[in-house]
Amino acid sequence: MPVLCGKCHSASAEVHIPYAKLSLCPKCFLDFYVRRVKGAVEDFGMFKEDDVVGVAVSGGKDSAALLHALRQAYPNLKVVALHVNLGIPKYSAHCQAKVEELTKMLDVELHVFNIVKELGIRISDFRKTVFRKKVCSACGTVKRHVFEDLARKAGVDVLATGHNLDDVAGVMFNNFFYGRWDQLVRLKPVLPPLAEGFASKVKPLIRISENENLLYCLYGDVPFREIDCPYSSGTGVRKRAEILEILSRDNPYFRHQVLNRFLELIPLLENVVSKPALVKCQVCGFPSSSDVCAFCKRVALVKKALGKG
Ligand code: AMP
Ligand code: FES
Ligand code: ZN
Repeated sequence: MPVLCGKCHSASAEVHIPYAKLSLCPKCFLDFYVRRVKGAVEDFGMFKEDDVVGVAVSGGKDSAALLHALRQAYPNLKVVALHVNLGIPKYSAHCQAKVEELTKMLDVELHVFNIVKELGIRISDFRKTVFRKKVCSACGTVKRHVFEDLARKAGVDVLATGHNLDDVAGVMFNNFFYGRWDQLVRLKPVLPPLAEGFASKVKPLIRISENENLLYCLYGDVPFREIDCPYSSGTGVRKRAEILEILSRDNPYFRHQVLNRFLELIPLLENVVSKPALVKCQVCGFPSSSDVCAFCKRVALVKKALGKG
């Protein structure tokens, strides 16, 4: 006898949500997911209905699910998609094609920043610099800067990213072990703008696991990329995921508990973590803790390695 969906009690259940002790049919799972996203947006006060929300869409399942779910949850909200083409051979063209397919399907305006055209570099060029074993980390710095730039140009008030529960709980754990309190504080679900004229940043999927995002895309026919970034799969990230997986085996609510405990801790930490004074980057003019910001330093490094500097 098939198990019936715990919500509609008519279709057969296909998804088990251990932390909610629910087994759902695909249709009820899609509704459950959209309600969870809406719940996080409202509980953390992520945006107002008249804000322009920019969703950073990478082509991966998390941000694809986020854009789709926000359209379902808030059909009248002004949403735009922001994509950074990182110039990684094969991978970046594939990601952009998926983002174009998704935004066309949802009728969402898309803004693309192509780093080859705009900056004259590719993320792969970091292999020629001291970042050769840490391409991902340099890529993160470039992406964060470009998101701010794209958001400003697109008139975005709030920038939403697809960081999920597994990402955030894993990074929180890691920052805790290494005592990186300033970085732990930055994992808050809502971050204020860097300065006047910049967007605030929100993580509406902070309570949703990677697996739930994957199921949402599969059941909802949401297009997402089929190949992985050649520079991903950092051992650190994998190790963290494994540790959390082991600790979650007997307690399906474990990741949520990690998140909740850290969210309680962050306001206390904010009182003791010193915030660096911000100045204007001498090159790009963005707020920065040093005369030249990390983004401009990384770009200059690559250009020098390419003989363009
Ligand atoms: P990651 O740091 O790759 O785990 O990505 C975290 C989030 O950043 C994703 O869920 C997206 O919202 C956003 N993101 C990452 N890469 C891109 C990209 N190339 N273009 C637009 N958004 C991105
Ligand atoms: Fe940035 Fe892979 S997406 S290194
Ligand atoms: Zn700069």
